[in-house]
Amino acid sequence: MPEEMQQALIERGDDKGRCRPLEVCMSEFDTQVVGILGTGDFSRSLARRLVASGYRVVVGSRTPKHAVALFPEEAEVTSQLEAASQADVVFVAIFPEHHATLLELKTALAGKILVDVSNSSQIKRAGPSHAERLADMFPESFIVKGLNTISAWVLQTGSRDGSRQVFLCSDSSKAKSTVLAMCRRMGFCPVDMGLLSSSREIENLPFYLFPSWGTPILITLILFIFFYLYNFVRDVVHPLVKAKKSVFYKMPIETVNVTLPSVALVMLALVYMPGLLAALVQLRRGTKYDRFPNWLDKWLTKRKQFGLCSFLCAAMHAIYSLCLPMRQSARFRLLNDAFKQVKEGVEDAWSDEGVWRMELYVSVGIIALGLLSLLAITSLPSVADNINWREFSFIQSTLGYCTLSMATVHTLLFGWDRAFDPSQYRFLLPPTFMVVLILPVSVLLVRLILLLPCIAQQLRQIRRGWERSRHIRFILPNDDRVTGFDNVSHV
Ligand SMILES: Cc1cc2nc3c(=O)[nH]c(=O)nc-3n(C[C@H](O)[C@H](O)[C@H](O)COP(=O)(O)OP(=O)(O)OC[C@H]3O[C@@H](n4cnc5c(N)ncnc54)[C@H](O)[C@@H]3O)c2cc1C
Ligand SMILES: NC(=O)c1ccc[n+]([C@@H]2O[C@H](COP(=O)([O-])OP(=O)(O)OC[C@H]3O[C@@H](n4cnc5c(N)ncnc54)[C@H](OP(=O)(O)O)[C@@H]3O)[C@@H](O)[C@H]2O)c1
Ligand code: HEM
Repeated sequence: MPEEMQQALIERGDDKGRCRPLEVCMSEFDTQVVGILGTGDFSRSLARRLVASGYRVVVGSRTPKHAVALFPEEAEVTSQLEAASQADVVFVAIFPEHHATLLELKTALAGKILVDVSNSSQIKRAGPSHAERLADMFPESFIVKGLNTISAWVLQTGSRDGSRQVFLCSDSSKAKSTVLAMCRRMGFCPVDMGLLSSSREIENLPFYLFPSWGTPILITLILFIFFYLYNFVRDVVHPLVKAKKSVFYKMPIETVNVTLPSVALVMLALVYMPGLLAALVQLRRGTKYDRFPNWLDKWLTKRKQFGLCSFLCAAMHAIYSLCLPMRQSARFRLLNDAFKQVKEGVEDAWSDEGVWRMELYVSVGIIALGLLSLLAITSLPSVADNINWREFSFIQSTLGYCTLSMATVHTLLFGWDRAFDPSQYRFLLPPTFMVVLILPVSVLLVRLILLLPCIAQQLRQIRRGWERSRHIRFILPNDDRVTGFDNVSHV
């Protein structure tokens, strides 16, 4: 057995899935006999983990003689019936298709805890779960569903190379508590998912692929395609049509580097837009107790994903931007410009305006990216867990608006006076930065309007429970963020 498997794990979890100090868990040690039916990958990893956590393990196999060499010597490998009879808790580590073959163990398993670790082969939307079927087959046993969301590999490596969360549910609270305690002792953070009726959801969990990311990723892709085509038409097709000049070399870097920041800025505006729409809806209705429309509700809950998509695009834009001068095309262009200048007899190409413009927009861009990185870091659960709600909302909301303002200023500085240059309107299409700026500028303007004292005061009242239709006289405390509802007076 690898040495690491024999060491007790450092952190344990409590009933709510939080981790607890080691000493607390150590006091729970006993020599419970744990059975495992099946000798496959999952069973072998589980047996190692259980042995390393101080349990006596009995493995039940149809062919124990063949399987014994695969298990640590501390584990006893015997017949299925023998294992079922000896153990207090039995893990069913065989595929659900074969659960029915265990029916002959019904008497031996009566009154025991059966843990179903099985997964489905596809997502299931209707009908009973495997665990519910197992409960029908063994009505005298206590069925617990769980541990199916971790792989045999994670079980073996002691939960350090994967998620430590395991989801459990059962109709018997005693059986569930026993398995919860076992999971904690194995170094996992169990999450109580309630009754066995949740087992279908738990069985479906391994099939979810970034469930809350679908819409944000789709919108990012749509914006990327839109802006890429827009820039392609302006920067590549226009010179080809008007001057018969082929500049297709721009497609991999230059066009992408105009597209990425455009997507980043629009996505960032889309992070802060739903909060404003929520505020406008609340002001219009004069209450916060009516539900938002479904689309707004969903949008509000996906702001983190929108923000992280924006961060990804902005970070790539920064890297692309830093690479711009090192390209062969940039060097050739520089040489050609220098040659042209010499030919024209220009000695000093320095332009104060051009220099200031670039110094400013690059500097503000770097500040914007720094702030955006801060938002991204605080969205990591490990960081968010270590700051309080006030700090989190200060960073996400206040600094978030600063980030949006900086990114907008960066783009305005980049644009400078080019919005007024007719040559920028190729095929009558306005420059990209102008199209990009519509949403962030609108968001910032609406935010400023909502900050006007008369509107801000009304919004604060609504968010603290005041309702227009109820005619309640409402006095806001001086520091409403610290005090509770004590100063609210009803007439
Ligand atoms: C890189 C990056 C990372 C991010 N990470 C996170 C993150 O980890 N977590 C996160 O939440 N956001 C994250 N965001 C999104 C955003 O920063 C926050 O949601 C931020 O709090 C929004 O601030 P706000 O002032 O617009 O809205 P808020 O102050 O959150 O909301 C405005 C008002 O809308 C209403 N409201 C908001 N949400 C709801 C709701 N669900 N139901 C009912 N009413 C509601 C409330 O009345 C609230 O007062 C991230 C953004 C970026 C750019
Ligand atoms: N592998 C993983 O990473 C993982 C992760 C989460 C959940 N799971 C779940 O754990 C269970 C076992 O998975 P596994 O990967 O360990 O499978 P496996 O390697 O195929 O092992 C299944 C075991 O079931 C036993 N078994 C008992 N009755 C059987 C029968 N009638 N027909 C065939 N086999 C029978 C066999 O052991 P004997 O021949 O010794 O009886 C066999 O070794 C599955 O329900 C799976 O969904 C697995
Ligand atoms: C280290 C940080 C950054 C650097 C170095 C940087 C640099 C640049 C450069 C060099 C350009 C000009 C590109 C060109 O020549 O076409 C540019 C444009 C732009 N940048 Fe940034 N930027 C940074 C961060 C950001 C961030 C965080 C955002 C938004 C979230 C952003 C949004 C934009 C936009 C919208 C444009 C205009 C694109 C166009 O219309 O051509 N930038 N930036």
